[in-house]
Amino acid sequence: MAQDSTYDLIVIGAGPGGYVAAIRAAQLGMNVAIIERSRNLGGTCLNIGCIPSKALLESSELYYSSVNHLKDHGIKTGSVKFDLQRIMDRKKEVVSQLVRGVSSLLKARSVDVYTGSAHILPAEGQKTKTVEISRRGAKKQQISGAKVIIATGSIPVELSFLPFDFKDIVTSTEALSFEQVPEKLIVIGAGAIGLELGSVWARLGSEVTVIELLPQIMPGWDVQVSRRMNQILKKQGLNLVLDTKVLGCEKKKAGLQVRAERKDGKEEFFTANKVLVSVGRKPFHEGVGIAENGIQWDERTGFVKVDKRYQTSAENIFAIGDVIGEPMLAHKAEEEGVVCVERIAGIPAELNYNAIPGVIYTAPEIASVGKTEEQLREDEREYKRGMFSFKANGRALALGSTNGFVKVLADSRTDEVLGVHIIGPRASELISEAVTVIEYGGSAEDIARTIHAHPTLAEVLKEAALAVDGRSIHSL
Ligand code: NAI
Repeated sequence: MAQDSTYDLIVIGAGPGGYVAAIRAAQLGMNVAIIERSRNLGGTCLNIGCIPSKALLESSELYYSSVNHLKDHGIKTGSVKFDLQRIMDRKKEVVSQLVRGVSSLLKARSVDVYTGSAHILPAEGQKTKTVEISRRGAKKQQISGAKVIIATGSIPVELSFLPFDFKDIVTSTEALSFEQVPEKLIVIGAGAIGLELGSVWARLGSEVTVIELLPQIMPGWDVQVSRRMNQILKKQGLNLVLDTKVLGCEKKKAGLQVRAERKDGKEEFFTANKVLVSVGRKPFHEGVGIAENGIQWDERTGFVKVDKRYQTSAENIFAIGDVIGEPMLAHKAEEEGVVCVERIAGIPAELNYNAIPGVIYTAPEIASVGKTEEQLREDEREYKRGMFSFKANGRALALGSTNGFVKVLADSRTDEVLGVHIIGPRASELISEAVTVIEYGGSAEDIARTIHAHPTLAEVLKEAALAVDGRSIHSL
């Protein structure tokens, strides 16, 4: 701990937004403190979000493939079993390795880490901010800083008629740590969390029903991609119930009974051992001292309001990540952290919100960047579309994973790439090329003329770019 507890910058929250901001600030020569209420650094993403879910997705997919696909490769096995305890232990090991990594990174940059809940003390007219840190069983501590960044993230949305009991009616946190595979799992909401965790438990043998309010899974994503995913998940055994509103849930002897209403007004009942409510997340800034410091926020959504430099309505207090708005993604928070700190240091950085990729780690994966066809039509923007299937790709065939396609959308006049949507193997990795092209204002022709190694999955993106002008080579 520094002798002097006055800092150039105090960051509240050590998730991907906060800890990245702290590291970048330290690189720029600032004297930095970071305050985290949890004992573990890394926030939701590392501890109860992106990382543990990816660990479970990988283990469950390996098991599912061993049972269902090894025989396609001529590999014979005895009966394949899994050990849920070991799966969970491995998940914990992955998480703790990364959490330790964040700790080392902060230490290496001489960032002071404080454990406790932070409260910015109101101090009218005073430029330096004082932050009080409280922790159960410990004496309150105060540190001060020239600037403060709020990076306190988000928490799951609760349905008023279906409160969490964190045992049977659960958030994603509990659904990442079930001690047994639930015989029947109901997932409310077919967004990223619902589909990823629904997939995990379905692969391990749970009978999974996903109930979605809207007429498509993954609302807001490319409709064609969403429809294809719907077919694929159904084949994998997920029961997808669309256009259906959950009204309540009763605990009965036989288990939980969820009452829902279809669009035509018909009432329907579903039974389960566990109900995962994944209907979105909301910003979290309780106790930070938003109101007392005159920081404005949106009354309806709860998001803290910021300007282009991420400064809130209170001078020298900034906010980044989930707490300021959608999309609630770790990589968006990280970049906001970097840009915010660089702007404080006088570097004219900016974030291109049109080039933020989105990924859902189902099997196959889905990834997207830029505009969807639906958005382009709404904007009355004239566009061309090129599509190519993984079925005609050598590497995908060799992998035995040919389900899916790449769609490239380009401006009709300038050929500028406006959006790329992928459903297919390793979509999460393939999307990076499209992000780079959009970031640089590149065209479909740029992708089409770029040499792609053969045989690779990335050739599907090249062929889709060629298809924008009807000249893909490997299609009939
Ligand atoms: P989401 O916003 O992605 O999806 C929520 C779904 O619930 C929507 O389809 C919505 O129509 C539906 N819904 C809302 N109210 C409902 C109701 N009463 N009954 C039935 N359906 C209802 O939210 P989700 O999946 O909880 O994820 C939260 C946040 O975390 C999102 O911002 C997401 O982007 C992020 N996240 C990202 C991941 C990734 O990048 N792979 C993984 C997990 C989460």
